[in-house]
Amino acid sequence: NKRVKIKELLASETTGQEVVVMGWVRTFRNNQFIALNDGSTNNNLQVVVELGMLDEPTLKRITTSASLKVTGQVVASQGKGQKIEVKATLVEILGDSDAEVYPLQPKKHSLEFLREKAHLRFRTNTFGAIFRVRHSLAFAVHKFFHEKGFVYMHTPIITASDAEGAGEMFRVTTLPMDNAPKNEDGSIDFKEDFFGRSTNLTVSGQLEGELAATAFSEIYTFGPTFRAENSNTARHLAEFWMIEPEMAFYDIEDNMNLAEEFIKYLIRFAMDNNREDLEFLAQRLTEEEKQLPQDKRSEMGLIEKLEFVLNNDFERITYTEAIDILLNSPAYKKKKFQYEVKWGVDMQSEHERYLVEKHFKKPVIVTGYPKAIKSFYMRENEDGKTVAAMDILAPGIGEIVGGSQREERLDKLTKRMEELHIPADEMWWYLDTRRFGTVPHAGFGLGFERMVLFVTGMTNIRDVIAFPRTPKSAEF
Ligand code: 4AD
Ligand code: MG
Repeated sequence: NKRVKIKELLASETTGQEVVVMGWVRTFRNNQFIALNDGSTNNNLQVVVELGMLDEPTLKRITTSASLKVTGQVVASQGKGQKIEVKATLVEILGDSDAEVYPLQPKKHSLEFLREKAHLRFRTNTFGAIFRVRHSLAFAVHKFFHEKGFVYMHTPIITASDAEGAGEMFRVTTLPMDNAPKNEDGSIDFKEDFFGRSTNLTVSGQLEGELAATAFSEIYTFGPTFRAENSNTARHLAEFWMIEPEMAFYDIEDNMNLAEEFIKYLIRFAMDNNREDLEFLAQRLTEEEKQLPQDKRSEMGLIEKLEFVLNNDFERITYTEAIDILLNSPAYKKKKFQYEVKWGVDMQSEHERYLVEKHFKKPVIVTGYPKAIKSFYMRENEDGKTVAAMDILAPGIGEIVGGSQREERLDKLTKRMEELHIPADEMWWYLDTRRFGTVPHAGFGLGFERMVLFVTGMTNIRDVIAFPRTPKSAEF
């Protein structure tokens, strides 16, 4: 007899056949009804144990989170909310779970509590739903780009460069911490290190992606990236996953179009393939928001919000327009913003959220940022002051995408690197793309966890990655 997954079993609705199911006990009522879950769906399978079938000591071992192998017959269910159940003929306990010490109860736990129990939280309905949606979105990323003929590139995790030039890298070294070899001036001598130079974990695969795009035309990366940003917020991780497409012969307009199409494709895919889980999460969110004062609750439910995003164009504005909107906003006049609003100064998340949540009430693409607040590789606009950058801001999230058209003109690029003290001799390989058949090209990075937040309606980024890494926290 072959094992059948519970999702499949519940979907089939046929009765009479003998099946084997395996999973973990969620609840056990009246020494008779086991709610069994195997992670394929939040819907538990009801397993009915006939009175007298199991002896007293065995019944006692059927506790929350014990693992079982059940053989039985599929029968029509009398209970409400389920069409079928399994009448057990054999119940084998594969692993006991001591009810006295098992930390999760079959009741609702707070997300904070579950973060402390991150190694077991997959066994809850909320995290079951989140991680099945996350899986689907990851699959949809590959499906989207594969269908468009993009080549998936694996860019390196260990690099010698700082793609964003922001100095937020985790160093990788095998040198002894207490006795590192030194140069004459007292600095550490990385020539003695594993790679014979100083290296770090990647902050972005973009630069290597550009090398590949100037051969394959259209590529994407999808991998872990690392940032030693000391921001302990609900939107930042030290280790997060990023999707970075890079396209030759694209300008900033093409780049925006692709990003918008991509985000909508991911949402559509989850809506089509994870309906049940999204409805569960929508319900959860509504319950959660009942605790909030009326004006803090969302105007739309999760499903409605996703439909709305699918059915409407993203707003497209320039940075200059964004600053004007902010300066003329009631929030600004009432001094509601904590941070300065001024042309040339980077927008803070309170400003971004004002634009998307209060002003436009939909995703917004902001272009034409001042060059001083953006990375060295972005293409300078005709005005000499702004660059062809684009950030996509999403309601409830803030920045979800950062991208740009790249500076393909060698002279402009090297001049900009000089101004920012980025050593051109160490970036010779990058500059070669501009020396040999340079082309207009563009790309962007979508923060995968921020996308998962958006689709699931969760509000803390620690709840959409299995093992979150944040300042002062990396449990396992
Ligand atoms: O805007 P960022 O820094 O852009 C880049 O890294 C470019 N190289 C992308 C490109 O053009 N190929 O990061 C891109 C996105 C952000 O919009 C955000 O969604 C996410 O990555 N992100 C983070 N997500 C979680 N935690 C962090 N600390 C993040 N930093 C950026
Ligand atoms: Mg950014």
